[in-house]
Amino acid sequence: MSSKHKTNNPEYPNFWDKKYILNESSWDIGYPTPIFVNWFNNNNNNKKKKILIPGCGKGHDAFFLANKGHDVYALDFSIEAVKIMERRAKLENISINILNQSIFDMENYYGKFDIILEYTFFCAINPEKRLKYIETAYNLLVNNGLFLGILLPIKKALNEGGPPFGVDVFEAIKMFEKYFELIKCSYSELSIPPRAGNEKFIHMKKCIR
Ligand SMILES: C[S@@+](CC[C@H](N)C(=O)[O-])C[C@H]1O[C@@H](n2cnc3c(N)ncnc32)[C@H](O)[C@@H]1O
Repeated sequence: MSSKHKTNNPEYPNFWDKKYILNESSWDIGYPTPIFVNWFNNNNNNKKKKILIPGCGKGHDAFFLANKGHDVYALDFSIEAVKIMERRAKLENISINILNQSIFDMENYYGKFDIILEYTFFCAINPEKRLKYIETAYNLLVNNGLFLGILLPIKKALNEGGPPFGVDVFEAIKMFEKYFELIKCSYSELSIPPRAGNEKFIHMKKCIR
């Protein structure tokens, strides 16, 4: 089997393709993330933002934000996730940019996004690539751009394996702070019940270096 077709390694799209085909996307809550919906409802200055959602899966947050009028880039390297989003965009006639590529191949988009928003993506990538991901997010944002995310599972140890790979919040924030100013890191009463206490909302601002 060629390295491009590994279905047992989450660093390859086939791993995720298989899960979407078999309908084994247990991470997918099926609707826009309440914590993000609340954030956008309370931070709505009516300005259209360019928003990147990496590893967006079926794209519930992406469609919610596109429907609000934002310029949304829904990114996933799984062609099966992309097909699901393309079907929905067509069916509902929603204007959205769907990108089928890896977050690590986005040089053409450096400095372009006002906001990066993510859920269950940090925990999906190889933990050894976390710093590279944070650096990539930094590069993709405009100066003072925002990174909004939810870190989970914070009660799982890294050596328990994954995905999802456990997240030590203190260590993760330390990594982010090499590139971002921490504005908020907190539990939320809007966490879905099965994840309450096992995730934290983070709000970061790109530091100008
Ligand atoms: C656990 S799923 C989360 C999907 C979505 N965020 C959600 O909450 O439903 C992780 C997603 O990240 C995608 N992914 C993993 N590594 C990626 C990479 N390097 N670039 C782009 N997408 C990636 C997978 O294809 C998968 O759809």
